[in-house]
Amino acid sequence: MILVFLGPPGAGKGTQCKILADKYKLKHLSSGDMLRRERQEETELGQKAQEYMDSGQLVPDDLIVAMMSKEITGAGGDSSAGVILDGFPRTINQAQELDKALEAAGKNVDAVLNLEVDDGMLENRITGRRSCSVCGAAYHIMFNKPKKDGLCDKDGAELVQRSDDTAEVVRNRIRTYHEQTAPLISYYQEKGKNRTIDGNQAIDDVTDAMCKEIDGLSC
Ligand code: AP5
Repeated sequence: MILVFLGPPGAGKGTQCKILADKYKLKHLSSGDMLRRERQEETELGQKAQEYMDSGQLVPDDLIVAMMSKEITGAGGDSSAGVILDGFPRTINQAQELDKALEAAGKNVDAVLNLEVDDGMLENRITGRRSCSVCGAAYHIMFNKPKKDGLCDKDGAELVQRSDDTAEVVRNRIRTYHEQTAPLISYYQEKGKNRTIDGNQAIDDVTDAMCKEIDGLSC
């Protein structure tokens, strides 16, 4: 099974992907997490991506497509039942490149789970997010608190704020989403793959709505 998660920054993609990957034994591939790892390891790709990420722009398609294609077409051969794509594709060109790579591997996207959240909520969600410095798990200072202040529930590591989670960069990221990523909704609607979910609800209610969609898929 290959699922694509769409939604603006702060919609809850990462939060839901982690829950659902665990429940359905899917491999969670987050382009943002992969880029942050490249930055931490100071690779050439990480250095190239830094400036774009910190200003709220998309990293150029050629860099992202090369990074993701290999991971995706290789995924699913292990113990997992498939893959959840979180943050990729993010432009029409990336979606077309994904379709080509999957077709060549005899695979295809089964469904696109599109989380819709009002713009007014996104800034609060992102500026209040704290992420684990080791495993990347996301918390929120109001809506999704860790058991111990400032520490990850899973590994006890320190929670930190992402460098692109400032109010100014968030506004650029939301603008970039509307200009370059939202057109993907029509792209996948035309292919009959899009499933829109109300992401304004509480985390557990969003999970329930997503599970209903996934359980209804015939794959
Ligand atoms: P990326 O890391 O993908 O960031 P994003 O898409 O902006 O999404 P976020 O991670 O900010 O939000 P999310 O939807 O995962 O929300 P979360 O679950 O954490 O990308 C970062 C950058 O990398 C991009 O700007 C770009 O530069 C580059 N990049 C990545 N992929 C690329 C690509 N394909 N092409 C080009 N460039 C690319 O939740 C947010 C907060 O809200 C958390 O605190 C959470 O606890 C809380 N929360 C979640 N759900 C709820 C809920 N239902 N109610 C209340 N609070 C909630």
